[in-house]
Amino acid sequence: MTARFAGKIAVVTGGAAGLGRAIALAFAREGADLILVDINEQGLSDTAAEIRALGVNAETYRVDLSVEAEIKALGADILSKHDSVDVLVNNAGLAYNDIARGFADLSMERWLYFFAINSVSPVILALALRPALAKAKGVIINQSSMAANQPATAYGITKATLNSMTYALANQLGGDGIRANSVEPGIMETTASHDALGEDKMVALRSTQLMANEGGTADDIANLHVFLASPEGRFINNEVISCDGGNRMRGWRY
Ligand SMILES: NC(=O)c1ccc[n+]([C@@H]2O[C@H](COP(=O)([O-])OP(=O)(O)OC[C@H]3O[C@@H](n4cnc5c(N)ncnc54)[C@H](O)[C@@H]3O)[C@@H](O)[C@H]2O)c1
Repeated sequence: MTARFAGKIAVVTGGAAGLGRAIALAFAREGADLILVDINEQGLSDTAAEIRALGVNAETYRVDLSVEAEIKALGADILSKHDSVDVLVNNAGLAYNDIARGFADLSMERWLYFFAINSVSPVILALALRPALAKAKGVIINQSSMAANQPATAYGITKATLNSMTYALANQLGGDGIRANSVEPGIMETTASHDALGEDKMVALRSTQLMANEGGTADDIANLHVFLASPEGRFINNEVISCDGGNRMRGWRY
């Protein structure tokens, strides 16, 4: 095991499952201690157990990221225990069901709920952790999506907005030595994406990728996050980086 992150702390939202769990485990394998945030308590404790088995620490916080007061309380609690945070991965998000369908029937309340979780909560959390990120000269990595390139539903719109938030965070926090980047996964093979899209659609989507029939894995995304946060990625800032098998300009009709 390399230990580029020994003694460092990574906060990962959406760490209970899917890409977030893979990202958290990848940082743990590099020696980082993890702070996991999610609304799914069982998933949090399952991920934490896997992380502790690797010999590093894992703290868990059950937080609803649509609620500003909960995010601020989370930030305050982390700051009371850690004066330095090296990595903030804003991975939690809504990606499936009504956010990813035609928006003709969406209420304003629902739109704002989507924006709260996918676009605004990463900024509120980054600002809540700003002193600790500044102390570490840390990095914020926002989990965007291929869908941000050609938004066709509320999902892509919230992720395009998240990319704008990345640029603004890089601008406003850069004076503290904090970097901010977005990662845009393509269609990755997670339990959630399989459940939402179904096996037939996954096979069809794989077959239309530039890298024919090659599925993207959660580890493909996790490896990119680790690289961006590592010393080797120290001069990469204010970027939106795709990891999608070359698929990003693909569009389809809803
Ligand atoms: N899997 C893919 O193909 C894919 C592609 C592009 C982008 N993404 C993005 O990657 C991220 C993770 O996707 P995934 O496929 O692993 O999905 P997932 O549903 O397994 O993970 C999302 C996590 O976010 C958590 N979450 C949702 N709402 C929350 C809230 N209000 N407060 C706290 N936590 C909340 C969920 O409990 C879950 O653990 C999402 O932001 C998604 O948009 C995924």
